[in-house]
Amino acid sequence: MMKNVLITGANKGIGFEVAKKMAELGYFVFLGCRNQEKGTKAVQELQNLGLTNVDLLQMDVCDSASVRQAKADLANKIEVLDILINNAGIAGELSQRISEHDIQEIKKIFDTNFFGAIQATQQFLPLMQHAELPVIVNVSSELGSLGLQTSEGRKPVWSDFHAYAISKTALNAFTIQLADDLKGTKFKINSVSPGYTATGINNFAGFKTPEEGAEPIVAMATIHENEPTGQFFKAEGKVEW
Ligand SMILES: NC(=O)c1ccc[n+]([C@@H]2O[C@H](COP(=O)([O-])OP(=O)(O)OC[C@H]3O[C@@H](n4cnc5c(N)ncnc54)[C@H](OP(=O)(O)O)[C@@H]3O)[C@@H](O)[C@H]2O)c1
Repeated sequence: MMKNVLITGANKGIGFEVAKKMAELGYFVFLGCRNQEKGTKAVQELQNLGLTNVDLLQMDVCDSASVRQAKADLANKIEVLDILINNAGIAGELSQRISEHDIQEIKKIFDTNFFGAIQATQQFLPLMQHAELPVIVNVSSELGSLGLQTSEGRKPVWSDFHAYAISKTALNAFTIQLADDLKGTKFKINSVSPGYTATGINNFAGFKTPEEGAEPIVAMATIHENEPTGQFFKAEGKVEW
């Protein structure tokens, strides 16, 4: 039977490419999108490529009622969700110097990148309990790595993304705590950095194409039983916390 995967923030950028690749691999893909019109367009684009194993799930990860409704809508369509990819994310406005950045702006970033991932996970977990191998991927960033934040070779491009970096550090902590919470179950829960990828989030300044950025996410979404949980990966391997 076809396995089901849900990707949040899948109407464009890396999420869209993950959706495409997972559909090509034979999964049934639900594109979680906050905007109905943009979501419908993205689904149609995949269907035009002959990928009929895709569907739209409208969902704003910042809105509890919307996530609950999405869970109810999905439960009407499928019995088991195999893979959840918490990809929806925002960078926020620059500069984000943490000594002075507006607290409401910082909260907005956390609302999507951190609380959004937690509330999506909490809602969809019950649907994943009976999956053969339930997998959760939290799309993080190397900017969230405390080790890299404090390393000497820190890239200048990182300098102003303070609030975003902290939100991804927090997301990584969520990965660790959730993996601990679900220890002894079949769940595989990992953080993955796509690498610096040309999308709207960075005004298309990234070095990688969205297809390349999607690769490590797809790799961790399709891991096997004997592979790790509670870890942080990028395309080249493990990332230090
Ligand atoms: N690009 C990079 O270099 C890079 C590097 C490291 C990590 N990442 C991470 O990769 C993930 C994908 O980013 P991207 O580069 O593909 O950026 P993107 O092109 O801006 O895509 C972000 C996606 O998230 C959606 N989204 C934002 N807020 C949402 C919400 N409240 N509810 C549901 N969906 C929401 C957006 O929907 P709308 O179209 O409606 O806005 C869009 O589909 C993010 O978590 C980002 O932090 C990216």
